[in-house]
Amino acid sequence: MNTGLRPYQPGDLGRLREICVLTGASGGDATGRWSTDDLLPDLFLEPYVTYAPEWAWVVDEGDGPVGYVVAVPGTRRFVDWWRRRWTPWFAERYPVPSEPFSEEERLVLRGYEPEVLLVPEVDDYPAHLHIDLLPSAQGRGLGRALIENLLITSLAKAGVPGVHLTMDPTNLAARSFYEAVGFDELPSGALGRWIARR
Ligand SMILES: CC(C)(COP(=O)(O)OP(=O)(O)OC[C@H]1O[C@@H](n2cnc3c(N)ncnc32)[C@H](O)[C@@H]1OP(=O)(O)O)[C@@H](O)C(=O)NCCC(=O)NCCS
Repeated sequence: MNTGLRPYQPGDLGRLREICVLTGASGGDATGRWSTDDLLPDLFLEPYVTYAPEWAWVVDEGDGPVGYVVAVPGTRRFVDWWRRRWTPWFAERYPVPSEPFSEEERLVLRGYEPEVLLVPEVDDYPAHLHIDLLPSAQGRGLGRALIENLLITSLAKAGVPGVHLTMDPTNLAARSFYEAVGFDELPSGALGRWIARR
């Protein structure tokens, strides 16, 4: 199977930011969902490819990326980096929310509080990832190919013992996908939000 997998290149960033928005509402299109379409990629895409571009892979069948996986091998270090480097960047673009928080403000808070990424099992599953494919690229084995490439080629080679992710529990399609590619729920994963694989 020719999967079109290749390493991320800096020129991919704009397209990957679009894919992040087009798949950012429980797997559906989040365009116009928040007051700026920059919010989701500013939280869930760009910090990853800025911190660890070598851990990002795209699917490109010739016309540019149609999907990606981004990851960090060590979530604790990433959280330190985010606090020192990303939060100041983020703070220039998003005002600090004040209580009572709207749904959007709770999202914005993530930019200020990267410690939300520190799940109790983080030392057993130090890596974490995000994966998104455009609808036209879904259901063809590309998600599995991206995950296996990341797990086998990159994480296992680097000796990283496990990977986890936080997901929207209402995204039932993604839940089925993660089960199919070997992820299980973490004990502390309240509401099925955190899942992991060794
Ligand atoms: C979730 C996503 C990454 C899956 O990638 P994909 O390329 O569509 O999935 P694949 O074709 O590689 O499927 C791999 C396995 O997952 C299963 N699977 C995938 N989507 C499924 C679905 N909607 N329902 C049931 N099973 C599903 C497949 O049956 C397959 O199992 P098999 O290999 O044992 O036959 C992709 O659909 C996607 O990006 N969706 C939108 C964004 C999103 O929800 N991202 C995750 C946010 S947490």
